[in-house]
Amino acid sequence: MLGVCYYPEHWDESRWAKDARRMREIGISHVRIGEFAWSRIEPCRDHFTFEWLDRAIDVLHAAGLKIVLGTPTATPPKWLVDEYPDILPFEENGQVRGFGSRRHYTFSSRTWWRESARIVEKVAARYGTHPGIVGWQTDNEYGCHDTTLSWGEEDRKAFASWLRRHYQSVDQLNEAWGTVFWSMELASFEDVALPARTVTEPNPATRHDFWRFHSDQIADYDRMQCEIIRKHSPGRWITHNFMGFVSDFDHFKVGDNLDLASWDSYPIGFVEKFPFSEAERTRWAETSHPDIAAYHHDLYRAVGRGRFWVMEQQPGPVNWAPWNPVPKPGMVRLWTWEALAHGAEVVSYFRWRQADFAQEQMHAGLNLAGSDEWSVGGREAAQVGRELAMLGTLPDSGRAQVALVFDYASYWSTMVQPQGKDFRFEELCFRWYEALRRLGLDVDFVRPGGDLADYRLVVVPTMVHVDEAARAALAGAEGVVLFGPRSGSRDRSFRIPQELAPGPLQPLTGTRVTQVSTLRPGLSDAVSGEVSGAGIRWREYVDARDCAVLARFANGDPALTRRGNVMALACWPDEDLLTGTLRLAVEAAGLDTLPVPDFIRLRRRGDLLFAFNYGTQPWDLPESANPLLGTRRLTPQQVAIWRG
Ligand code: GLA
Ligand code: GLA
Repeated sequence: MLGVCYYPEHWDESRWAKDARRMREIGISHVRIGEFAWSRIEPCRDHFTFEWLDRAIDVLHAAGLKIVLGTPTATPPKWLVDEYPDILPFEENGQVRGFGSRRHYTFSSRTWWRESARIVEKVAARYGTHPGIVGWQTDNEYGCHDTTLSWGEEDRKAFASWLRRHYQSVDQLNEAWGTVFWSMELASFEDVALPARTVTEPNPATRHDFWRFHSDQIADYDRMQCEIIRKHSPGRWITHNFMGFVSDFDHFKVGDNLDLASWDSYPIGFVEKFPFSEAERTRWAETSHPDIAAYHHDLYRAVGRGRFWVMEQQPGPVNWAPWNPVPKPGMVRLWTWEALAHGAEVVSYFRWRQADFAQEQMHAGLNLAGSDEWSVGGREAAQVGRELAMLGTLPDSGRAQVALVFDYASYWSTMVQPQGKDFRFEELCFRWYEALRRLGLDVDFVRPGGDLADYRLVVVPTMVHVDEAARAALAGAEGVVLFGPRSGSRDRSFRIPQELAPGPLQPLTGTRVTQVSTLRPGLSDAVSGEVSGAGIRWREYVDARDCAVLARFANGDPALTRRGNVMALACWPDEDLLTGTLRLAVEAAGLDTLPVPDFIRLRRRGDLLFAFNYGTQPWDLPESANPLLGTRRLTPQQVAIWRG
């Protein structure tokens, strides 16, 4: 269940066999290679030098390792960029993004599709049936370094074609976008301009479609790679390595192409990336916040339709955050066990050996820079290897009783039209997840339209546009359903629904939103009733037409309503209101909770229960727990596993 990312092209060939042997010695079974090696397999057009990679694959295979081969499209080589500069991406300000790092391509370039298909075909044909190859990774981290959207002429042309397919006639496009406003009417699809560099804000409907177009394009590009791989590599699975806190394309759609999802877990790096308070950042700097890794494990388990890996696991300090502390002793082991607890099939460390050269020379590996000496992370990985050998096969993870409906499109809807500067979609979802996890509950993520029938509780932090499939799934949920702010507030064309928000959800909630107020930091609206706290950031004015009012704002307006099994919250809740509301929903759903301190997390995998201590104090396991691993007194950075 352990893997590692390895770059044979970074090390002299004489070292490969020893590296492979040492991987096996610590219990590593899988190795991912090849995803950045284009310039070494095709140093100039049509001149292929695969022999070194043949030998590397043979050496790893001979050592008993299972190989995951990456397609090298994240790093188009210099000769290709020189030959076809139209593959380069553009910044929103019109500046081209050049050669010299990675991901320097736009998904809109037809040349790029052709060149990608060519190299993927070559690699897949050569290695597709090699007995050492068990799976494939397409590209590397779509969207990394802000590369989902690109703003050049190739993008404009591809956008115009996408619009033509979706709207058929320019009249329909004008109608959908409301271009009569400010004389923006278009005479043909070719008139479509990039929604950028306008005098004041461009039309949000255009911007919204531009985002959706890029999202669709990534899924199509990925499918193109998958189809080529499947043709040449029967019986092998395909994955892609997604990232943390990146929502700017619909990962569920890419997941539909794949056999399993994987993601790159850098829990400490993400502490700097997520909008935590300074106090939280300092508190969690050396362990990470206890929900960051877990949140993504649960998300990607859904993206992979039940199957996921951690393709890259942080093994020590990284190089790319504003500050990069050494993780506290024990954290690399803890993160590994936590991924397994959430159902990961394999946890693969990034990377085998710290590079003593180039951009990532400050990024730890399982071995010290350039050497064959274990790092702290390497020793902790070896410890997990021994523990796994002792415990044997882990049971399958079952289904949780709580579902969190996660809607990527709501990310770009709220980016396109924030209305309040701090309405941050990922922060909303993360805080709802955190509050549920603090009650000791396991959570499944579900895509819009996904089956909700068997969940006791369904939370929807927000879903701006509710399509018919999503509406039907929500209407069919038998458990308690809780909606957050902005739900149902736009239609497919980014218009306000005629019946007003929550649009198609009105028959479920029995509410109607007539006004919205966004509240700057410092402003809040107190809430009291069955729950108390305050609305911050975003506050809706609601007609409670056909529902009970459970809590009210200071002026008596409804803040939390209930109609049958459906609850609706009319604001962005502060911590008290969020905790209270979720507690109420959990009680209404009849779920048992096991509230834990904010530094402890629990997770069930089959009949195994896991506990993780992210804090600085010990915590005692429940009386009945008889640990298979760890001790009843769970000390900081420790893991316990028991049957229950
Ligand atoms: C200005 C403009 C109007 C409208 C308003 C919105 O006053 O003249 O067209 O954009 O701002 O507040
Ligand atoms: C990402 C990439 C890797 C590497 C790591 C460093 O996850 O996929 O190639 O750059 O970050 O943390």
